[in-house]
Amino acid sequence: MPHVLITGGSRGLGLGLARQYLQRGHAVTITGREQPALDAAVALLRPHGPVAALALDAGDLDATVKGLRALDERVGGLDVVIANAGVGADPSKGAPYSWEAIAQALHVNFTGAAATLTAVLPAMVERRRGHLVGISSLASYGALPNAAAYCAPKAGLNMLLDCLALDTRGTGVAVTTVKLGFVKTRMVETATHPMPQLMEVDDAARRVVRALEARPRVVTVPRALAFGAWVGGALPLAVKAKLPR
Ligand SMILES: NC(=O)c1ccc[n+]([C@@H]2O[C@H](COP(=O)([O-])OP(=O)(O)OC[C@H]3O[C@@H](n4cnc5c(N)ncnc54)[C@H](OP(=O)(O)O)[C@@H]3O)[C@@H](O)[C@H]2O)c1
Repeated sequence: MPHVLITGGSRGLGLGLARQYLQRGHAVTITGREQPALDAAVALLRPHGPVAALALDAGDLDATVKGLRALDERVGGLDVVIANAGVGADPSKGAPYSWEAIAQALHVNFTGAAATLTAVLPAMVERRRGHLVGISSLASYGALPNAAAYCAPKAGLNMLLDCLALDTRGTGVAVTTVKLGFVKTRMVETATHPMPQLMEVDDAARRVVRALEARPRVVTVPRALAFGAWVGGALPLAVKAKLPR
């Protein structure tokens, strides 16, 4: 049975992805920082198939690498690794351009994702089997107001995944960047900016997992918004400065 590792699977998109993979006959391990939230997620997911949880902070890089390598050995080789854990900017820490506000998102959304994606990559290449998936965002196409903490690590994640895809060509390992629009999760609960084509978690997760089956280089969901985001990303900064914050 193929085994999927999903970081940040205790709620939101990660929980939805876990449900989709279980329903497709995969075994799934989810991670998150909070044990009670993981326990609740496992209870929700168990009726759908074999699921386990690992309490791991994606920002704790050594623990992430060690934890994923141990899991890889335990399950006889992970088939899919999804770097999904992510946080937004923390406005309580100060100006959106201050180190305090951006530090955690940079650490978790980029460095933590990099540790997640590369921890077992050499082992995947050796066995000539595996699929790496990074959950990026349509916000990675270009600068947005008050969004350094979010846009920068997602743009970096895109580049990391591009490089990994290049380096693993012909090895049997696929690398996919998921560029996602708005999903109704805790992350956007307090957002005040417009969220066109906002998706329900299950809808977004179904679309993503269906698209991932073909192991494409890039998945964009929803497609129509992706085009708008691409055009918007290229707008001059003087125009973007007038966008709603
Ligand atoms: N929602 C959107 O509109 C949207 C749009 C584009 C892309 N995305 C991306 O989709 C991914 C999932 O976001 P979401 O909307 O589902 O957010 P969410 O509802 O806030 O869920 C985030 C998940 O990540 C976990 N997490 C957070 N920090 C972590 C850490 N340091 N280590 C391990 N797990 C951690 C959380 O659990 P704990 O807090 O218990 O650790 C939770 O399970 C993120 O990468 C996000 O950037 C979301």
